[in-house]
Amino acid sequence: MSNFEIQPSGGGVGAFVDGIDLANDLSDNVTGALRSALGEHGVLFFRDQKLTPEGQIAFAEKFGEINVNRFFAHVDGYPQIAQVLKEPDQTKNIGGGWHTDHTYDTAPAMGSMLHAIETPPHGGDTMYASTCRAYETLSDGFKKTLEGLNALHSSRHVFGPQARYVRKGEDTAGRLGNNEAATQDSTHPLVITHPISGKKSIYVNPGFTIGIEGWSDAEAEPFLKILYDHIAKPEHTYRFQWAPGSLAFWDNRATWHYAVNDYHGERRLMHRITIEGEALAA
Ligand code: SIN
Repeated sequence: MSNFEIQPSGGGVGAFVDGIDLANDLSDNVTGALRSALGEHGVLFFRDQKLTPEGQIAFAEKFGEINVNRFFAHVDGYPQIAQVLKEPDQTKNIGGGWHTDHTYDTAPAMGSMLHAIETPPHGGDTMYASTCRAYETLSDGFKKTLEGLNALHSSRHVFGPQARYVRKGEDTAGRLGNNEAATQDSTHPLVITHPISGKKSIYVNPGFTIGIEGWSDAEAEPFLKILYDHIAKPEHTYRFQWAPGSLAFWDNRATWHYAVNDYHGERRLMHRITIEGEALAA
């Protein structure tokens, strides 16, 4: 087994993994240790990885089946790798708001890994938040209120023909598409038990959650906002700065993420692979 070190980020989520070459160190022992670390920390950050598309696919497949993204353009010749790109003349980025990938699916994605190919000289960071840590820091009274609630999620308002970016004619052509395929709706417990760590996690997000089962919008919206403000508190978050070769691997059942859009006029290209997950339980 290779000798690698896992150092907590020092923020509210995530850990840095040093001393590992993801193109070569993929023994079952290593991937088992990384899986446990992911459950523990929510996001794993790696630096200076020389991964080809085949190498990133091989790494991802150690953790499960790859999800072929319905809406993102993919890397030429590699449908398994979604291209997360912003060109110098584009203003809209992908993922520029707090969200968790694929909560609209009935068996939502386990995790996603983003590999930095080209990064702007400044900016273009990604923020992460721990939905497990956020659960822990709620009061016991509020935790009781959440028991038994189910939240509703959808892909329609984000990726469908009526999505805001489509209506506003934003510059996403060639990057996002296939709007007619945005038909996914799902219901999940508002608090889930994390399948790896057994920790409780608040499973709602501003991107894809559209309500609470059995509640009116007037009731659900302010209630969800309390949770969103709580999860986004600085003490639950970490802001990761990219360089070419960096890779972040996050657990979608334990985190939110937010791609900061502060690098207009520069190019940023990332390769993202998402790994299939399972139905979630309270
Ligand atoms: C995403 O939401 O997957 C994109 C994150 C990023 O580009 O930093």
